[in-house]
Order: sequence, then C-alpha cells, then structure tokens
Amino acid sequence: MAASYVKDVTVLCSYSQLLKRNIHRQLCIKLKYSTVAELTVENNQTTIDENVKSESFKHRSHPGVLKCKRVVLPVRLQESISVLLEKYPVHQLHGQTQFLVNYLASRKRPIEDDELRKQAIKLENEISTNRSGDIPERPKELKKRKSLIMNKLRRSVYHWQPIIYNEMVAVAYLLGRFAPNYAALYRVFNEIKRREPEFRPEAILDFGSGLGTSVWAAEATWENQVKEYMCVDISKSMHATADSLLRDGDENKERFIKTVFQRHFTPLSPDRKYNMTMSAFSLLDLPTKSDRVNTIRMLWMKTDDFLLIIETGSREGFETVNEARDLILGIQRPSGKDKNVELEDGYVFAPCQHDVSCPRKSSTDVIIPCNCMQDYQPLKELKLKLNTMKERFSYVILRKGQRKNRVDDHWPRVIEPVLQRSSHVICYLCCPNGQLERPTITAAKHGRDLYRCARLSNHGDLLPISHLESSNPPSLTNENNKSN
Ligand SMILES: C[S@@+](CC[C@H](N)C(=O)[O-])C[C@H]1O[C@@H](n2cnc3c(N)ncnc32)[C@H](O)[C@@H]1O
Repeated sequence: MAASYVKDVTVLCSYSQLLKRNIHRQLCIKLKYSTVAELTVENNQTTIDENVKSESFKHRSHPGVLKCKRVVLPVRLQESISVLLEKYPVHQLHGQTQFLVNYLASRKRPIEDDELRKQAIKLENEISTNRSGDIPERPKELKKRKSLIMNKLRRSVYHWQPIIYNEMVAVAYLLGRFAPNYAALYRVFNEIKRREPEFRPEAILDFGSGLGTSVWAAEATWENQVKEYMCVDISKSMHATADSLLRDGDENKERFIKTVFQRHFTPLSPDRKYNMTMSAFSLLDLPTKSDRVNTIRMLWMKTDDFLLIIETGSREGFETVNEARDLILGIQRPSGKDKNVELEDGYVFAPCQHDVSCPRKSSTDVIIPCNCMQDYQPLKELKLKLNTMKERFSYVILRKGQRKNRVDDHWPRVIEPVLQRSSHVICYLCCPNGQLERPTITAAKHGRDLYRCARLSNHGDLLPISHLESSNPPSLTNENNKSN
C-alpha cells in the first residue's frame, strides 16, 4: 500500500515536472519567435514547390517527410539481445539502468579550468567585499575563507565524472539506451538515404561505437552495402558486448556481420579515409573541450564525404552538437594553439538548410535546443506498459565541399510540432536564409497543396515550398555570424 502510494506520488511529480518544462519551452519559443521581423514564407506568392508535384504525389508522404514510422529493432538483433540478457539478473539491473539513463539524460559538459578559475575569483571577490580591508587576516581566518570558497564552488559547479563502462554498465546501457540510440541513428541514416539515394557508405568510422548500434542501424538502412565498419571504443566491455550481439548472443557462433572491425584507438594513418565518420552520444564522455575539438577535427579529416554528430536532445546535447557545427563551419574558432588549424570546407546537409550561426542560439539570450523526435519500440525485457516511446535527440550532418543547389536546399525545416487549427496551421520554421519564421498557412492564401502538406508535416520534416525570395540572404562574413 505504502509502496504503491510512493510510486503514484513519484509518477505525479514527474508528470508535473514534465508539464512545467513544456510550459517553459513554449514560453521561450513565443519569446524567440516574437523577434522575427519579416515573414518571407507567409507572403501570398508562396505556394507548393511545383518540382515535387507528380502523378503519385500524396500530401501525407510529400518529399519533405523525413520522420520514420515507429522504429523496431531487427528480429535477429532482438533475439541476440534476449539470449545475451539471459546470462544476467535483468530484474536486479532495473535500478542501475534507470540511474544510468537519468544520469546520461541530465549530463553536462565538464567545466573548463579557466571557467572554474573565473568562478572562484568571482566568489572570492563576493566574500572579500563583506570583510573590512583594514584588519590583516589571520592564518585561521584565511583558511576558513578558502574552505568557504571551496564549499560554495563545489555546490555551484557541475561535477563531471567519467563513466566506467564495465560489464554491468554495458548491460545496463544495452537495456536502457540501445533501442532509443538505434532509433535516432536509423532516423538520421534514413534522412541521408532519402535525400541522397545514390550515396553508398562503403566505409564507416564510428568514434565511441559502444555496443555497435550504428552497425545495426546502417545495416538496416543500406543492407549489405557497407564493406567496412571501423568501431573505435576505449572500453573492452562495450566491445565484448557488441561482439556478442553480432554472434547471436553466443561467443561460439560466427559473426552475423563480418565487415566489423573493433579498435581501442582511431587508426592513425592520414591516408586512410572513410566516406562516413560519426560520433553518436559520445562527445559528452570526453573530459575537456580540447578533447572534443580534437575528436571532431580528426573525424572531419578522416571523412571524404559525411560527418555525423548526434547527442541527446537536451540543451547540453544541442550545444555540444552546435559546438561541432560551428567548429567545422569556422563560425567559432578555438583559442590557444588550436587557433590556426585549417579545416577543409564543408556545409550542413541537415538539419539546417544554411551555414550561418544557429538562429536558435543567436537571436536572443534564450536558448531553446533544436532537436528532433523519433518513435521507437522499447526492449521487451524492460517490461514497460508502453509499446511506443519517443527519443528526443539533436544532430548535425556535415558534408565536405560546397552546398549543391538541389531542389530541397530551398525548403525550410519544421523545427517544432505543427500547430493544427481550424482552417489554418502555424508552422515553426528554420529557413534557408538562416532565419526563424512562424507563418500561418491557409488554403486560401497558399493554395490547397501547401496547406495540406503543412498540416501533415511533422517536427523534423522539410516543407516543400516554392523558391523563397530571401529578405536577408545568409552570409558567413556577417559580423553576428563569425566571431573568432
Ligand atoms: C554513451 S556511449 C555511446 C555508444 C554508442 N555510440 C551508441 O550510440 O550507443 C559512449 C561511448 O564512448 C566511449 N568512449 C569514451 N571515451 C572514449 C575515447 N576517448 N575514445 C573512444 N571511445 C570512448 C565509451 O567507452 C562508450 O562506449
């Protein structure tokens, strides 16, 4: 009785927290969009992009739709997971799994030394102003003041700790994070496949590959096309569990996908290139900004086509992804000795349709994370009542070379759920000119086709509208966009 009461209260509390967070997000969005000056999408001449209309054109599955239906793990993988989990006391691991999942969701980047120093000086100044400067401080008082500063610092600063991925943590990770990570990866790979059907990822380098989630998601997307998966992970246990999954949960069996290579460090040879490099949910595992910068640079140098960065959809995850985007586009250059390293040119393939500063970060002080949602089926071993869960993640797909003038390069991205009202819809868009817009789309003003497509679009899709006359063309030389 008492236990069920506690459970009910916990559920209620988490609902009210969720509600509070959603209300806060809606208020921030309103505030952010109130700064939008001119709406290019809302003007009367905007209609459906005529290039997309064909005989088989359906509004529900218009060419800008990128969201996948509920993502389900392949049957063979589900069976491997079940066989592997039989060896572990899964019911005893639920608590550890929940703890790990919550920790990963709320994890932040480690604080940098100079930021820590700045905060300590600020605290010291605050404390010092309260004492009279005339009386010299005795050693005992000095010691007391130092310990006060240290205590305050400990309480106010985020204490980042590395995760030791041992065997049990690997199993907890499999239980709690494998299915949602797979769903996010599958969604991102599918965007590349749909928008670039000719692309064949012959060799993939995955930094922080963990349980080999990317291997399974890539195999489900480009069946038997990948000739080499280079999985780099520092943890032996993660590699061992990933290997076991490839052998149907039994180490005596043969590997199901034979093109997987596991390494603890990235192959050094500068000549060896991959046509896709990636890091999924791994950058927050690195202890310093310099490690993140070096990893992103290394991944950029190792690819001759795509670089994918995926992180959790929290504000921290979004900022980590944005840090990588800004680094490659040259919007934000790191300081110190890293300052002058030249990187090959590239552009954002997704989710942005432009290469200027993220407008969600730059237009006001409020930062609303730009993220995407994907439905997925959780593992049956978790014994959840829900059969569909949602994974919120932030991502960027960068590509080498110059932006191609393709049809969909002129379509804005839907970056929040479309608000459906009677006879009109309100869309939150990120436009190819690097600006945010919130047009109200109606059949009378924009034509039935665009109205129907907008109504049936999801968060994360592209909206196929006619070529926008940009009021403010994007420019990388713009003062706001480039800060060294
Ligand atoms: C949160 S897991 C992500 C796993 C996987 N990418 C996925 O999507 O499921 C992070 C992984 O990064 C690995 N890792 C952490 N630091 C690393 C480093 N310096 N080099 C290589 N791998 C590292 C960890 O061992 C862990 O497996």
